[in-house]
Amino acid sequence: MSAEPTPLTAQHYEYIARHAPPEDGFLEALRAASRAAGIPAIQIQAAEGAFLQILVRALGARRVVEVGTLAGYSAVWLARGLRPGGSLLTIEASPRHAAFAREWIARSDVAGCVEVVEGRGQAVLPTLEDGSVDLVFLDADKAGYADYTEHAARLLRPGGLLCVDNAFAFGQLFDAHPTDPEAPAIRAFNARLARDARFASVIVPLGDGCWVGARRP
Ligand SMILES: C[S@@+](CC[C@H](N)C(=O)[O-])C[C@H]1O[C@@H](n2cnc3c(N)ncnc32)[C@H](O)[C@@H]1O
Repeated sequence: MSAEPTPLTAQHYEYIARHAPPEDGFLEALRAASRAAGIPAIQIQAAEGAFLQILVRALGARRVVEVGTLAGYSAVWLARGLRPGGSLLTIEASPRHAAFAREWIARSDVAGCVEVVEGRGQAVLPTLEDGSVDLVFLDADKAGYADYTEHAARLLRPGGLLCVDNAFAFGQLFDAHPTDPEAPAIRAFNARLARDARFASVIVPLGDGCWVGARRP
């Protein structure tokens, strides 16, 4: 075993994708329909969806909360990992995205266990009960991540997981002059979560980088 990490290349990501559980026909159709409806194709990668589903299943999760539904792609991956009787609440600020996600989730195999709430994460998370959640997935406005993490610390039970997408700032993490306006917020958030003693967190190099932090008791 090498002491040095393997430098990851595009070839490694293709390899990971080819060796991960693939999306099924429903998820493929959902992605195609959302693109056709003009919804931006900014959903997570299938391998990241499979990874999140594994985490949900390993936790035996009853309650999962997502901020940033878009078309419902990651919501379906997450909800498929829930234990019987479990539920996912997914929060979406855009009425158009929320309506699309509702329509597609209603036709899915997880229709009965997903609630799409239209609203901003900042407004909805404060209404949820302390210690009631097994996993929180953040994938919305990056400027909101710090605030969402304060809520996640309150909502998650000990050992529950905080997962946060885009730790690699859309590939611009190391750019001297990133063009994406959200890149600085991501860098600030990364620095903050790394030293947040309430979570034991690492960045998993899947997709655009996915933080996984376990809530300490
Ligand atoms: C990257 S997309 C989410 C992708 C989705 N998680 C997936 O992988 O299928 C981000 C979404 O967050 C939504 N959003 C932006 N700001 C938000 C906020 N303050 N509260 C809730 N949703 C927000 C956007 O409208 C967009 O649909």
